Amino acid sequence: MDKILFLISAFLLVWGLRLQSDPSSASKGNKLAGIGMLLAIFSAIIMPLEESFSNLIWVVSPLVLSAIIGFYIAKNIKMTSMPQMVSIFNGLGGLSAVLLSYAEINKWLINPDSYQTEVVLVLIISLFIGSVAFTGSLLAFAKLDGYKWSERLTLPFQHIINIIFIALIIVISFYFIDDNSAQSYLYIIIILSLIYGIFFVAPIGGADMPVVISLLNSFTGITAALTGIIFGNIVMLLGGILVGAAGTILTILMCNAMNRSLLNVLIGGFSSSSSSKEDKEQGDVKEVSDSDFAVQLFYSKQVIIIPGYGLAVAQAQKLCKEIQELLENNDVEVKYAIHPVAGRMPGHMNVLLAEADVDYSKLIELDQANEEFKSTDVAVIIGANDVVNPDAIDDSSSPLFGMPILKVWESTSTVVLKRSMSAGYAGVQNPLFFKENNKMYFGDAKESLQRLSTELKNL
Ligand code: TAP
Repeated sequence: MDKILFLISAFLLVWGLRLQSDPSSASKGNKLAGIGMLLAIFSAIIMPLEESFSNLIWVVSPLVLSAIIGFYIAKNIKMTSMPQMVSIFNGLGGLSAVLLSYAEINKWLINPDSYQTEVVLVLIISLFIGSVAFTGSLLAFAKLDGYKWSERLTLPFQHIINIIFIALIIVISFYFIDDNSAQSYLYIIIILSLIYGIFFVAPIGGADMPVVISLLNSFTGITAALTGIIFGNIVMLLGGILVGAAGTILTILMCNAMNRSLLNVLIGGFSSSSSSKEDKEQGDVKEVSDSDFAVQLFYSKQVIIIPGYGLAVAQAQKLCKEIQELLENNDVEVKYAIHPVAGRMPGHMNVLLAEADVDYSKLIELDQANEEFKSTDVAVIIGANDVVNPDAIDDSSSPLFGMPILKVWESTSTVVLKRSMSAGYAGVQNPLFFKENNKMYFGDAKESLQRLSTELKNL
């Protein structure tokens, strides 16, 4: 019976993941995967307890309690805090891998015939990766949530210290496997691995945390898969492989979309990049008035909105939708061009616009958008900066050089909504702002869109 349930839950997990690759079916996919996970918990944890009924209460109560806590947190979390929540949940996954491995290694300590040496080695690897995922994710949470102390944990020669830690953990692990009477070695491995998790994440910049969280997520998947092999649990093995693979692919996609190597992210990122034309005088910018902007949009045939991180900061997505509707009422076609790394987390803009009930069919991806700009009257850039920076194509000294970007300047005109001339995430100035066919509309995105909406209503 449990084998059949395992098979069904494995099918639901894979099918759920498949559905999640499309925004319109993602919610259904999430529910299917949730049912798959419930079945997996039932078949792997609750069913084996039929003979020892008295243990049931000890297993079911924490499960129910943690499900209630998890539901409450997920229900109340703000969309912009989603990466923090993922980070905490991921860290707890790492901690459970540590506890499981610790319990199994203890079995081997009491009865050395219970596991072969190779299996103990796998358990130690699982213990190590789980510890790194645990403390690393907690630090990633602190960095994302803006705790100042979390940015000050880097030591001088941090990368050399990290290599020394890895070497120490490997050497002590081999001593431990060789002499299993020395239990203190096990505690040293755990402590060193937990500290290594902090050192691993410490040098990485706060804004690179989404990449790191995705990487740590893949680590947790790998530990779950390893533990699945040891317990002979197919669902755990399969779930672990799915999480491990998905996390790794997402990490690579994010790095590619930013045109950076994973190594560059891990050793502390953008700050070391050259500054390109950052400080060079690039001319004057032109500003557009409320009424001119409204008229320009109102008499366009096609308008493409490019949302970015600033739109999320301002929480102006609903106003954005309102303006879309005002223009559509006047037969203006409105679309949204979504850059894969706009914002600060994968799918950030999709989630933001979904919150405002923007229809998915209006969202176009990078390649299609770059085709459509040529026939667009106005490209409206709201709180986006790096994802529309022409230096990514024109300036080989720019840290953005090579990053695929939205070629908004190919539209008849562009208008940029932001508060000042400050740089974006990459820390470099944007020559788009100084182009002949560009105008700036300064102000907080929410206030600016409110002004624009009022003007449009008066036309
Ligand atoms: P950014 O380049 O970071 O630019 C955002 C702009 O929004 C800023 O220039 C800022 O200018 C403006 N802004 C901030 N608050 C605002 C507000 N309240 N109202 C109006 N404007 C506001 O954003 P982007 O174009 O979305 O690019 C994302 C960047 O993040 C890329 O470099 C990407 O590589 C990086 N990144 C992305 C991810 C993922 S997975 N999405 C992960 C890690 C890193 P002012 O201060 O002048 O207003």
